[in-house]
Amino acid sequence: MSVAAESIQGRPVVAREFTSVGVVGLGTMGAGIVEVFARNGVDVVAVEISGAALERGRATLTGSTDRAVAKGKLAEADRDALLSRVDFQVGLDALHSVDLVIEAVPEHLDLKQRIFAELDRVCKPEAILATNTSSLSVTEISVATTRPNQVIGIHFFNPAPVMKLVEVVRTVVTSADVVADVEALCKRLGKVDVTISDRAGFIANALLFGYLNHAVGMFESHYASREDIDAAMKLGCGLPMGPLALMDLIGLDTAYEILDTMYRRGGRDRRHAPVPLIKQMVTAGLLGRKSGRGFYTYERPGSPVVVPDEHTPVATESALADGTRGIMTVGVVGSGTMATGIIEVFAKAGYEVVSVTRGAEKSAKVFEAVKTSLNKGVVRGKLSEADRDAALGRINWSATLEHLADVDLVVEAVVEELSVKKALFASLDEICKPGVVLATTTSSLPVIDVAMATQRPADVVGLHFFNPAPIMPLIEVVQTIRTSAETTATAKAVCAALGKTGVVCGDRSGFIVNALLFPYLNDAVKMLEASYSTADDIDYAMKLGCGYPMGPFELLDVVGLDVSLAIQRELYLELREPGFAPAPLLEHLVTAGYLGRKTGRGFRDHTRR
Ligand SMILES: NC(=O)c1ccc[n+]([C@@H]2O[C@H](COP(=O)([O-])OP(=O)(O)OC[C@H]3O[C@@H](n4cnc5c(N)ncnc54)[C@H](O)[C@@H]3O)[C@@H](O)[C@H]2O)c1
Repeated sequence: MSVAAESIQGRPVVAREFTSVGVVGLGTMGAGIVEVFARNGVDVVAVEISGAALERGRATLTGSTDRAVAKGKLAEADRDALLSRVDFQVGLDALHSVDLVIEAVPEHLDLKQRIFAELDRVCKPEAILATNTSSLSVTEISVATTRPNQVIGIHFFNPAPVMKLVEVVRTVVTSADVVADVEALCKRLGKVDVTISDRAGFIANALLFGYLNHAVGMFESHYASREDIDAAMKLGCGLPMGPLALMDLIGLDTAYEILDTMYRRGGRDRRHAPVPLIKQMVTAGLLGRKSGRGFYTYERPGSPVVVPDEHTPVATESALADGTRGIMTVGVVGSGTMATGIIEVFAKAGYEVVSVTRGAEKSAKVFEAVKTSLNKGVVRGKLSEADRDAALGRINWSATLEHLADVDLVVEAVVEELSVKKALFASLDEICKPGVVLATTTSSLPVIDVAMATQRPADVVGLHFFNPAPIMPLIEVVQTIRTSAETTATAKAVCAALGKTGVVCGDRSGFIVNALLFPYLNDAVKMLEASYSTADDIDYAMKLGCGYPMGPFELLDVVGLDVSLAIQRELYLELREPGFAPAPLLEHLVTAGYLGRKTGRGFRDHTRR
């Protein structure tokens, strides 16, 4: 968080008054930034390059404020007052008397440098010149002026009126009072600021764009569909939108420039080299929401409403009915957390369940755990007593695999060891009837290894449930190169019958969610290790700038640092991507026994809170 303006260098400082500001470029970001200022009572001179662009910017602003009025979030009179504060102009000359300018033109260094040189000439000497750049060097932009000490980065997040975070980027020459004044201004705008130095991608984009690019790569290589990639991250991680929908919101042209700059400025990390598909889409005019089409198709340019197109999956019911096998009875093998949750999920959904554990004692424990969990549902009024009893009545308890001879589906959730799983699948192959679907819940082992322990790999699939299974709405359906289309369709139909979303993906380490999530967490650790920012500010940046439900360090402490390290190691070993190498700090914390909440200490000390 920012240093209080009053305490700068021990002397009292009165924060500068910003009565009028200028915004240059009224595209995706600029129009939103104008709205932020005008909403907070600041007069704005809004500048574009041409009359047509100016009208587009004006339309974006009125569209956004009209929507706020329609939703009851803004009174009509306040909207009118807001709009009356904005003076729309073509050309930079109109900015001669503003106190601060924020530039939000396309992400090209030469363009920004030209504009800053011109702003330096036009604006009054004491005016602060700010850039909203996402990835370019603020320092390089500042040296195009004769007042680099008054140049600063003010990086808003998209959509600017909604997202709370502002990254304030201080260069080595930005003066302390300029930083303090801008921090005070951010507070006045109701924003939370984090102040950082000038590094490619700052905090949030440095952590976000590798993830976005990776997700586009998954889509480009047909690893999973756009809907499944986005659903996986929304439902598996609680993100406000999936990565491809976010690319459309950011704008593919802007995203391309950001990635390209980050690749060049950020040590040529291959993960930032833009996936070729992005450039192709930009060339084809598929820029995302702003052009009406990107990864998805929108009602019209600028609209957030997605409409069906030729890639939209056909409506489920009939499609699923074709080629799926009827599943009535389900065997669940195992007695741990996942098996227990999965038994509950199937029984509650009306399936006959055969639970196989390693003995009566284990079965009794699982029974108690399922009963306790179902009782919670009764207490909360989500389940009737009769439904609870019926669900419990549908579970048959066994300690021998032979009882799985007649089930239609087996879900294996035993210990995460390949030799154990392979032996189990070999036994299931001997015991189970032909046509059974055999599923593993492994989160890290190759499903094909398990499948090849049987004589029927076409019937083997991964069903990767998330913890806690009764609550998490996502299941990754992992198809190997030997899984039949019928088996995959059956698995997807089962997910739907459980009231969950099944996303289909290939058999690669981390599937969709972990492959996209853990490298991002690992990058956050590397950023902390490099002392670029603090754990608190990095957590704030991702929560308030990108809408994540938890910051990376909060999440790492919940998941467990040992678990996170193990997943990251596997991703690194399978994909051999140098950028995936586990952060040394993560390894050291695990070695020191700081595993997160479960040991009382991870990135934070939980014993003191
Ligand atoms: N899109 C995002 O999600 C996002 C988020 C944060 C920051 N940013 C940054 O904000 C900046 C703008 O990005 P955007 O996505 O809004 O781009 P955009 O392409 O949507 O809008 C840029 C606007 O600048 C105008 N423009 C171009 N040259 C100009 C000139 N000489 N004078 C005045 N106006 C001019 C264009 O007409 C256009 O309306 C970039 O630096 C970008 O990195 C973008």
